[in-house]
Amino acid sequence: MIYTVTLNPALDKTVEIPSLTVDSVNRITTMRTDPGGKGINVSKVILKLGGESIAVGILGGNTGRAIRNAVEDMKIPAAFRFVEGETRTNLKVIDPVNHTNTDLNEPGITVSGEILNGLLEELLPKVKNGDIVVLSGSLPKGSPKDTYHTWTDACKKAGAKVILDADGELLLNGLSAAPYLIKPNHHELSGLMGETLETPEELEKAARRLMAQYGIAKIVVSMGGAGALYVTAEETIYAEGLKVPVKSTVGAGDSVVAALAVSEESGKSLEDTVRLSTACGAANVMCSGTQAAEYEVIEELMPKVVFHKL
Ligand SMILES: Nc1ncnc2c1ncn2[C@@H]1O[C@H](COP(=O)(O)OP(=O)(O)OP(=O)(O)O)[C@@H](O)[C@H]1O
Ligand SMILES: [Mg+2]
Repeated sequence: MIYTVTLNPALDKTVEIPSLTVDSVNRITTMRTDPGGKGINVSKVILKLGGESIAVGILGGNTGRAIRNAVEDMKIPAAFRFVEGETRTNLKVIDPVNHTNTDLNEPGITVSGEILNGLLEELLPKVKNGDIVVLSGSLPKGSPKDTYHTWTDACKKAGAKVILDADGELLLNGLSAAPYLIKPNHHELSGLMGETLETPEELEKAARRLMAQYGIAKIVVSMGGAGALYVTAEETIYAEGLKVPVKSTVGAGDSVVAALAVSEESGKSLEDTVRLSTACGAANVMCSGTQAAEYEVIEELMPKVVFHKL
């Protein structure tokens, strides 16, 4: 089983306002809401890939209930813990006239270490040897700094392979517990190494250094439209980005993480993993917001993926 953990979910509300003007009344012409937060996005994509995952996370208030209901409607099994407070709504205002994107993000829930430990204690007895736990995204206010270390360590001890997708201090902290796989983008890996890394060769060297230093089995470095680098103990593959019409690049990395989790669970070869992940990332950017792409689109893109060994 794959578990996706979203400790800081959000209801993503995307609205269109032509000629958005501050200090004035603005009319919304179209709107949609999607349950979001990186782990939930991963679960949405796993579902499209025909896989199964259980979405784990912390929710609160009416917004939390709206997310739970939407996840239930999508037939994604979930194990959410409800706490005091209101889950954040992230409002994205798209202005098609001025071509701007404005984000208004709520602060969200404040948690305590006890709340997080309670959720972890609920998860651990369910985790079986060989299961996959995806830890991704930001942490809610009040979370201890070592949360991803604690969760990685505990899930590994329960027999799971941990996939960690986080940034900055959270990534660094999780690394010290040696997750099985991490998927930084090239900016996140550069930030971690304290230098600007651009070429596949530079990124591979940095990834190998991290693998040796922390004992990580696999690193996938995504590079936006330029594709991704897949580094394992045995080999490195560079996959070019697919040329597709771009609607929104938000959540492209989450689609890659979903493909990596499904590939790992089904024991796919590295080549097949590369094909599926690259197609998933590209199919995602063809969709608006954090909508998950349909499998037919992913399937059509897979044979077009170009990759080579470094
Ligand atoms: N403009 C694009 N055109 C084609 N493919 C893209 C584009 N942007 C991203 N992708 C695909 O999606 C993958 C992941 O993208 P990216 O590196 O932007 O992830 P990310 O920064 O982690 O995204 P996020 O955290 O918002 O989900 C890339 O490796 C690539 O295969
Ligand atoms: Mg990312």
